[in-house]
Amino acid sequence: MEKMPYTADMDRALAMVEHRALDTTPVVTSDWKTGLPVLAGRKVTLRELRVSDARSLFAMLTTEEVSRFISPPPTTVEGFERFILWANRERAAGNYACFAIVPQGMDTAVGLFQIRQLEPGWGTAEWGFALGSAYWGTGLYSEGAELVLDFIFNTMGVHRLEARAAVQNARGNGALRKLGAVQEGILRRSFLRNGEYMDQALWSILAEEWRALPQSSAPTIH
Ligand SMILES: CC(C)(COP(=O)(O)OP(=O)(O)OC[C@H]1O[C@@H](n2cnc3c(N)ncnc32)[C@H](O)[C@@H]1OP(=O)(O)O)[C@@H](O)C(=O)NCCC(=O)NCCS
Repeated sequence: MEKMPYTADMDRALAMVEHRALDTTPVVTSDWKTGLPVLAGRKVTLRELRVSDARSLFAMLTTEEVSRFISPPPTTVEGFERFILWANRERAAGNYACFAIVPQGMDTAVGLFQIRQLEPGWGTAEWGFALGSAYWGTGLYSEGAELVLDFIFNTMGVHRLEARAAVQNARGNGALRKLGAVQEGILRRSFLRNGEYMDQALWSILAEEWRALPQSSAPTIH
C-alpha cells in the first residue's frame, strides 16, 4: 500500500496547535493546512485520512443504508484511495478538510467528517458526515461531532457552518437537530440521487451559538 508523505509535516503542525478546551476564545490558525491535528475523545479519535483507510471506508460507506441520501461514494477501494489523496491535496491547498472517524481501540477509519469552505477565508463553510451503520447509535457520531465542531469554530475560524440533508434522511436530520443546528428552510429539488431530485433541509450552526452551548466533553489535541 502506498505510504502517505505527510507525517513529518503533520508532526510539525501538531506541535504548533494551541488548544484551550475551557477557554472559549477562538484560536484561529491556518496550521491545519500543513496537516490535520489528532482530536481525541473518550470513544473516538479523529485524524487525517490515510490511504490505508480506503478498504475499511469502502466497506463502511458503500452500503445502501449509508449511501442512499448522500453524494455517491467511490465504488471501489482504489476509488477511495484516490479520494484520500485528493482530500489531502485539497487540505494542503486550504480548501477542504476531512477527518477520519476511528473508534477507541481501532486504527482504521469507520467514517468521516468533511468540511469545505463556501467562501474564500472560511467565514462560511459546509460540513457533511457518514459513519458505518454498525456504529450508528453508539455515541461515536455525537462525540466526534463535538470534537470537529470545536475545531471548525475555534481553530478554522468559521462563523457560519451549513449542512444539507435530504428531507427523507431522518437519521441525518435527527443527528443535526440534536447538536443544536437550526433548520433554516427547504431547498426544493436540490439534490439529484439515483435519477430523482430530492428536497434538502438547510441547517446552520453559528459560532456564537456553538460556544454558548454546554459541551459534554473537553476535547484534547495531540
Ligand atoms: C448521520 C450519521 C453520521 C449519524 O450517526 P448516528 O450514530 O446514526 O447518529 P445518532 O444515533 O447519534 O443520532 C441520530 C439521531 O436521529 C434520531 N433518529 C433516528 N431515526 C429517526 C427518525 N426516523 N426520525 C427522527 N429522528 C430519528 C435518533 O434517535 C438520534 O437522536 P437521539 O440520539 O436523540 O435519539 C449516520 O446515521 C450516517 O452515517 N448516516 C448515513 C450518511 C448520512 O446520511 N449522512 C448525513 C448527511 S447530512
